[in-house]
Amino acid sequence: MRLQKFLSAAGVASRRAAERLIAAGRVKVNGTTVTKMGFVINPAVDIVEVDNRPVRPADEKEYILLNKPAGFITTLADPYGRPTVAELAKDSGRRVFPVGRLDMDTSGLLLLTDDGKLAHRLAHPSYGVEKEYIARVKGRLPAETLRRLAEGIKLADGITAPAVVRLIKSTGSSSTVSLILKEGRNRQVRRMLEAVGYPVIDLKRVRFGSIKLSGLKEGHWRRLTGEEIKSLKELVGLR
Ligand code: URA
Repeated sequence: MRLQKFLSAAGVASRRAAERLIAAGRVKVNGTTVTKMGFVINPAVDIVEVDNRPVRPADEKEYILLNKPAGFITTLADPYGRPTVAELAKDSGRRVFPVGRLDMDTSGLLLLTDDGKLAHRLAHPSYGVEKEYIARVKGRLPAETLRRLAEGIKLADGITAPAVVRLIKSTGSSSTVSLILKEGRNRQVRRMLEAVGYPVIDLKRVRFGSIKLSGLKEGHWRRLTGEEIKSLKELVGLR
């Protein structure tokens, strides 16, 4: 398959724009920059990169890990024109959908994919996929409050399921706490901490199932590795 056709089929760019990417020296095949037009590749074995990021062939699903900054909405399009996560992952070239949701004010790990089956299972509470959050609250969180958060807190939509709650740091003026939840109710961490009298100042998701955020800068994204995709699928009984 011609390189420009491969790139356009993979959704990277139109055929003409793909030719411009190649001419500009932004495309590599098996690690070597290719500027020759009409270069032929074998999509089954050759690794094609644009701007040093591997391109997934059209017949493979896309799996993206985004470090969402606060201030972006977890949606593909916002009628009010506010910044969206879709804009941050736009240059992946694929139409991917967020797995679950992070509040506008929450930062951290968000998965985006066009694999509807996996996305559905990962987001569905019956699979109990762990989500880990780091929250900062004002004041010193007492052990008794940590225990209540772990055992279950009464919220307007019912008692929360058992969680793993660990104090990471406490200065006089603020505490940092890790919460591992298997549920994913709307604004759950904020509501849990609010309910015990410690409103959240700052909230970040650092893990989703087997996937960790570590090392990815805010506002940046990367493709999941084959191993990461496999481990996520295994978590929810796929393949
Ligand atoms: N809990 C929250 O309160 N907000 C999120 O974005 C995710 C979990």
